[in-house]
Amino acid sequence: MTPFSAADTTLDQWMSKIRQRQANVGIIGLGYVGLPLALLYSEQKFRVSGFDIDARKVDTLNRGGSYIYRISGEEIQAARAQGFSATSDYAQLNTMDATIICVPTPLNAYHEPDLSFITDTAHSIAPHLRSGQLVVLESTTYPGTTEEVMVPILEKENQSGLRAARGDHPTDREFFIAFSPEREDPGNTTVARRDIPKVVGGLNPLAAQLASALYGSIFNRTVPVSSPAAAEMTKLLENIYRCVNIALVNELKLLCLRMGLDIWEIIAAASTKPFGFHAFYPGPGLGGHCIPVDPFYLSWKAKEWDFRTRFIELAGEINNNMPYHVLSSVGGALNRHQKSINGARILVLGVAYKKDIDDLRESPALTIIELLQKEGAQVSYHDPYFPFIGKGRRYDLQLKCAELKNLGQYDCIVIVTDHSNYDYRGIVQEAQLVVDTRNATRGIESDKIVRC
Ligand SMILES: NC(=O)c1ccc[n+]([C@@H]2O[C@H](COP(=O)([O-])OP(=O)(O)OC[C@H]3O[C@@H](n4cnc5c(N)ncnc54)[C@H](O)[C@@H]3O)[C@@H](O)[C@H]2O)c1
Repeated sequence: MTPFSAADTTLDQWMSKIRQRQANVGIIGLGYVGLPLALLYSEQKFRVSGFDIDARKVDTLNRGGSYIYRISGEEIQAARAQGFSATSDYAQLNTMDATIICVPTPLNAYHEPDLSFITDTAHSIAPHLRSGQLVVLESTTYPGTTEEVMVPILEKENQSGLRAARGDHPTDREFFIAFSPEREDPGNTTVARRDIPKVVGGLNPLAAQLASALYGSIFNRTVPVSSPAAAEMTKLLENIYRCVNIALVNELKLLCLRMGLDIWEIIAAASTKPFGFHAFYPGPGLGGHCIPVDPFYLSWKAKEWDFRTRFIELAGEINNNMPYHVLSSVGGALNRHQKSINGARILVLGVAYKKDIDDLRESPALTIIELLQKEGAQVSYHDPYFPFIGKGRRYDLQLKCAELKNLGQYDCIVIVTDHSNYDYRGIVQEAQLVVDTRNATRGIESDKIVRC
């Protein structure tokens, strides 16, 4: 019989804390990923503390309000009743058993990974680290970030000389490290969050077990992989797979348009194959925090290995070109009415990066608006989720949401985001001309519609 080891004791104590909901869970970064995660733990009766550097978010949450459209104030209040609170004071991390990091991982102006949010967070956590604590990174990033970037900061800057646990025999001078990617699909109501399996890679086997047990209390299935880097790479594979396949259908759409074929009809027909085909859909360009950004984390890292990720670069080139395709389609459509973009009144319908969500990040609508404005169009927009578009990372539009009436005043309506609550038939009826980038007008026969 194997003797009872220190690792068994640590795991037993941890499991018991989780079963009895006595583990204190800290979530750093209360955005689209961190806030829903905090609510999930709170629903399962854990005591959750949220940490964010944005004082307005902290204040809103502590007043029982929400700043994310699909999360109601009532949900925040229910979590508050369960002990949830938000703070910007990292000193409170000291009382956490597990800390989960959900901060942004954007690209910088040179299209390179910007890890400053992760490194800032690690600098803030380190002074408050305690032996036996579990720290999990969830932010999407290149393989190696957890071990090569985050761990060295935590080890160097904690005040008790603690080390990240690497071997099989834990000591009381160690903390535990894992990476577990977020797989949420905003707006997707077909899969419950609980049913999305959670991939977990620990720096050592015990860290993987602790993290799996923690996530096992809110997800139905956890999928352990051999290391944090394997978990980091898993997430990138998933997103690169999407990015490349979307580029493929975008390119085939351009060919189909030239050949007089309907790509949507063809995708629908191909989708009837019961194996070996997964449908992806063309659109006006990529948007969101993930698909336009994450693949470039890997292509940047690959250079360190003298390796060129050609699929990623080609997909990026095709997808980035789609807003320009929309611009030329609008120009062509107006031309058929003996009009030009210059001076035209154009309504962009839907600006969120995909339908039925309140997220504008990297939305192709923003690029399309800018391109149309540069050509001299007077652009208005409508989107039920955004009353105003001000200044973002790469644009400064200062536009107020137009009313969805008197649509005949516009020379052209461009459907960029196919929100479900639009009455497309009514819109086509009132409009002079509709350019549809999403096949939102399927089934409507009208020579006012240009599908692009
Ligand atoms: N949004 C998604 O659907 C999604 C899906 C999968 C993965 N991800 C990944 O999850 C991560 C987070 O994305 P998000 O969409 O939640 O971002 P977000 O911008 O909505 O939220 C991030 C939050 O972190 C806070 N923050 C930044 N620096 C901080 C610091 N030093 N300390 C404390 N808080 C800090 C910000 O104020 C913000 O509230 C990213 O790596 C992203 O790629 C996002």
